[in-house]
Formats: sequence, structure tokens, C-alpha cells
Amino acid sequence: MSIIENLDKYMPATYAAMRNNGLLLGSVGLDGRPNLMTIGWGLIGVIWDKPIFLVAVRVSRYTHKLLEETGEFTVNVPTEDMSDACGICGTISGRNVDKFERTGLRWRRGEFVRAPVVEGCPIAYECRVLYKNPVNLQALPKDLVEIMYPRRDWHTLYYGEILKIHGKI
Ligand SMILES: Cc1cc2nc3c(=O)[nH]c(=O)nc-3n(C[C@H](O)[C@H](O)[C@H](O)COP(=O)(O)O)c2cc1C
Repeated sequence: MSIIENLDKYMPATYAAMRNNGLLLGSVGLDGRPNLMTIGWGLIGVIWDKPIFLVAVRVSRYTHKLLEETGEFTVNVPTEDMSDACGICGTISGRNVDKFERTGLRWRRGEFVRAPVVEGCPIAYECRVLYKNPVNLQALPKDLVEIMYPRRDWHTLYYGEILKIHGKI
């Protein structure tokens, strides 16, 4: 089965986890050091006839820097008992902290990307950025800009082509 045909299988559990504790976005810098950050926003679908995982990352995140450096990421669906780790990965920055050390999560490199695949996750997506664009604050309704971007810390939308899905469900 192609990845596109497989999307339907993994989408419900992925969305459920995203609404629960969030998903773990794995990234890697040019120095090879991996990082994790929790995400609550994301879309899975087909664009340009390709399977796409879209993630929204604010420019202030360390992860943003890493995505700009390598354009590779993973999206890992955590288990319920990784909720503490999701809290840590969603509140501290990887700039000065090794979040794997801090959370005890273990990782391996992806097959198609150098970004980290988190051990023990029932689903993990390996992605390479195919297209990206910053949220255009001029084009967004003003009330939304005020609510979402009072400090102008906008998101870049990264459209990652899904190259591989690791699935144990
Ligand atoms: C449940 C949850 C969902 C989050 N979703 C996002 C998101 O979609 N995009 C984003 O930029 N930050 C999101 N964050 C905040 C980042 O995870 C947080 O700022 C993190 O510390 C950034 O790590 P980094 O600096 O190592 O990249 C979320 C945090 C939590 C707790």
C-alpha cells in the first residue's frame, strides 16, 4: 500500500493524541543534535499528489531554527504514559537543554531523515519539508492576529512530505 493509502489508517489515532497531550515534533540541526517539541496544531492530507504533514512552528522556537537548517522532521504519536514528557517538551526549550536526557525518552535516527524517531511511539512519521510559508499577518483577520500574535511571534507553516510511516497499530 502507498503512504497516501495508509494515511486513513493512522489519522484517527494521530488526531486523538494531538488533541490530548499533543504530538512530539522531532528535529535535528546541522550539528546532528536532535530535539523534541510538543505540538497541538497540525494537518495530515494530500497536496500536490503527495502525502503531507503540515506543522505550525512559531519563529521563537528552537525547533524553528533547526527546521530552517535541515528541513527534516518527524512527528511522533506519544503513548498515554508519555504525558509528562509531552509537558516537558512543550514548556522548555532545547536551546540549552537535552530534552531526551530530561525526559528519559530514547530515540533513533529515521530511515529517510536524520531527525529523531522516538522509541516506543505507536506511530511515527518521517517528513522532509517540501514547501513552507510564514503566516501572512496582513492576510489574516485582524481579531485573530491580536489573539494569536500580540507579540508578532508568528508561525511558519511547514508542509512536510511524509516519506515513511512507522506504525504499530
Ligand atoms: C500541548 C502543547 C501544544 C503546543 N503546540 C505548539 C504548536 O503547534 N506550535 C508551536 O510553535 N508551539 C507549540 N507549543 C509550544 C512549544 O512546544 C514550546 O514552546 C517548546 O518549549 C518549544 O521547544 P523548542 O524551543 O525546543 O523548540 C505547544 C505546547 C504544548 C504544551
